[in-house]
Amino acid sequence: MSEVRGAITLITGAASGFGKLLALRVAQEGGDLVLVDRDKEGLEATSEACGACGVKVWPYVVDISSREEIFRTAARIKDEAGPVDILVNNAGVVTGRSFREAPVEKIEATFAVNTLAHVWLVKAFLEEMIARNRGHIVTISSAAGIIGVRRLADYCASKFAVFGFTEALRMEFKKEGLRIKTTIVAPYYAKTGMFEGVRTRVPWVLPLLEPEYVVARIFKAIKKDRPLVVLPPVVRSVWFFRLLGVRVFDAVADVLGVHTSMDTFVGRRTS
Ligand SMILES: NC(=O)c1ccc[n+]([C@@H]2O[C@H](COP(=O)([O-])OP(=O)(O)OC[C@H]3O[C@@H](n4cnc5c(N)ncnc54)[C@H](OP(=O)(O)O)[C@@H]3O)[C@@H](O)[C@H]2O)c1
Repeated sequence: MSEVRGAITLITGAASGFGKLLALRVAQEGGDLVLVDRDKEGLEATSEACGACGVKVWPYVVDISSREEIFRTAARIKDEAGPVDILVNNAGVVTGRSFREAPVEKIEATFAVNTLAHVWLVKAFLEEMIARNRGHIVTISSAAGIIGVRRLADYCASKFAVFGFTEALRMEFKKEGLRIKTTIVAPYYAKTGMFEGVRTRVPWVLPLLEPEYVVARIFKAIKKDRPLVVLPPVVRSVWFFRLLGVRVFDAVADVLGVHTSMDTFVGRRTS
C-alpha cells in the first residue's frame, strides 16, 4: 500500500491535464509534492492550489527533454525536498502527424519527453529508493502503448517503450526482493486538450475519457499498488484480439474507428 500522506510525490507535467489533477488529489490527501513542468505559469497555478491544501510543494521549471537538466534538477530536489517516495512520470507530447510528415525535431522531442525522460528520472531516483527499500514508480503510458495507431507512429513507439521499460523494472525489483512498486497506466483518449479534435466512432465502447476519471483511477492504483491500469478496461481486449491473427485484429480496430480517430486531430499546438 503506497500512502501519499507522509510521502513525497514527484509529478512531471504538473502544469496541466492529468498531472495537475493528480497533484491536487495528492495534496487533498495530505501528501507533499515535487512538481515539474516547463510551463512556468501553469506550474505556479498548480503549486498554489496544492499549497492551499496545507502541504509542502517544491515546484521546478524544467525542460525534461534534456538529460543534463533532469540530473541537475534531481540533485537539487534531493537537496531541497529530500527523498522522493512516489515518482509519477506523466509529462508527454504528441506530434499527431503521419510518420512521413512528422519533422525529425518533433520525433526526437517525442522520444526525449515520453521515453527517455522517464528512464533518466528513474535513473536519478532509483538508488535512493533502493537504499530505503521503499518507492513507487508510476508510468503514464497510453492505450497507444499497446496498439499501433495511424498518425501516432512516434507517439506509439515512445509509449510502447515505457510500457516495456516499466514491466522489465517490475521483474528486476521482484527478483531482487525490493519493495519498490511500479504502476503502468494506459488510457484511451481523454479530454485534457492534448488530443483536441480526435474522434471516437463507437463511444459506448470507447468513450473519450474524463480526466477526473483517469486521475481517480491512477490515484487508486498508487494507493493499492496496482501494476497495470488500462482505461477504459475494455481496451484490455487488444491482447485477446491479437491472438486471433493480424487480419481479425485490424478489422476489429477498423470497426471501432481506431485508425481514423486521429484524422480530425488538432491538439494543443498545430505546428
Ligand atoms: N490526454 C490523453 O488523451 C492521453 C491519453 C493517454 C495517455 N496520455 C498521456 O498522459 C500524460 C499526460 O497527458 P495530458 O493529457 O495530461 O497532457 P497535457 O495536458 O498536455 O499535460 C502535459 C504537461 O507536460 C508538460 N511537458 C511537455 N513537455 C515537457 C518538457 N519537455 N518538459 C517539462 N514539461 C513538459 C506540458 O507542458 P506544455 O503545455 O508546455 O507542453 C504539460 O504541462 C502524457 O504522457 C500523455 O501522453 C494522455
